[in-house]
Amino acid sequence: MFKEKNVLVMVSGSVAAYKSATLVRLLIKSGANVRVGMTTAAQEFITSKTLSILSGNDVLTDLFVGHTSDIVHIDWAKWADIIFVVPATANLIGKLAQGIADDAVTATIMASTADKIIAPAMNDNMLANPAVMRNIATLKKDGWFVIESAVGFLAEGYIAQGRLPEPIDILQQSAVRLRAKNGMLIGKKVIITAGGTREDLDPVRYLTNRSSGKMGYALARAAAEMGAEVALITTIVRENIFGVTNIFVNSAQEMFDVATHEFATADVFISAAAVSDFKPAEIAVHKIKKQADDGLTLNLVQNPDILRTIGQSKKSHQIVIGFAAETQEILVHGQDKLIKKHADMLITNDVSQSDTGFSSDDNAVTILIPNRSPETLPKASKIDIARAIMTRVITLK
Ligand code: CTP
Repeated sequence: MFKEKNVLVMVSGSVAAYKSATLVRLLIKSGANVRVGMTTAAQEFITSKTLSILSGNDVLTDLFVGHTSDIVHIDWAKWADIIFVVPATANLIGKLAQGIADDAVTATIMASTADKIIAPAMNDNMLANPAVMRNIATLKKDGWFVIESAVGFLAEGYIAQGRLPEPIDILQQSAVRLRAKNGMLIGKKVIITAGGTREDLDPVRYLTNRSSGKMGYALARAAAEMGAEVALITTIVRENIFGVTNIFVNSAQEMFDVATHEFATADVFISAAAVSDFKPAEIAVHKIKKQADDGLTLNLVQNPDILRTIGQSKKSHQIVIGFAAETQEILVHGQDKLIKKHADMLITNDVSQSDTGFSSDDNAVTILIPNRSPETLPKASKIDIARAIMTRVITLK
């Protein structure tokens, strides 16, 4: 996302200013050309020397001193494709929201048409101050992407909201947001299931499977990158992705209830979860005890088939996509499931392969679509496979 992009990192005077050094390093690592600007207060917290060495460029601190160009703020403003304001103080947020350009940082930002990302970091009472809240809302309205400050241990010595998120999270959220800007799924709602369901046996035990949920999370990220509003119905806690609402469930029945409810207002449903076909006929109220030398026979009953139910009920504008995790005769079973589940696309994968199976970071799949030839996507990272799947999804209807 940031490769060969001109990225300006503007730093203001917060104790979190030291994290801007990591942000600069991560941007350089991802192939960006990076320049840094600092307010006067920022230089009380981190030196311009550090940021100059890390970025490989002189740091902008003053409009009038140390430049060969007379209009340095215009030159820098034109150069930038993306501007990060990290960390942003209440004071700088106020100036940017109100159109005040009284130093090198604010004048450069105001003169630029680049994509703008801002990460507030301050005391929790300052953040909750109505004027600050108004200014942040103004920036959002003006098209800024505001990274919400995190709840965590503040410099004041207590836990509250106001902390600057970790630079890697700032970059990941920004990448999703920047990709989504012109996305093909803007205005569309995509719901995705992920992970293996858990079927309670008694208060301490459950039946489940090897699914890691990684493919579902990758699909959620890929859909969000295309601008979709995503609901991820998942049994596995992984990451928070900008644009994705995580809804945590346990059993297949819970997943069924949430998925069918969400589908009523959705455009696309992707069933990536490994749904348990069976559940215990009864959940024991107390922990099941060993009986002398006897074994234990479980009585299992079928769970609802989420994909088939949703496939049968879909309206003409809705797209339904399933997965088929197989260990043999993959295409035969895949074609069979495509029809049985009333799906518009069925993605088959061979889970017997240890390098592309359940908990792997990679996958290799074959995509089946009615009346089209099967298309095989060779082994690649799950996020790349997910992005490739989403580009096929938008060709469906
Ligand atoms: N699926 C579902 N609800 C179920 C079972 C499966 O929504 N109760 C979905 C899965 O999320 C996947 C697709 O159906 O998208 C195929 O799942 P799979 O386990 O491969 O197939 P099953 O229908 O369970 O058939 P079988 O286990 O006999 O292969």
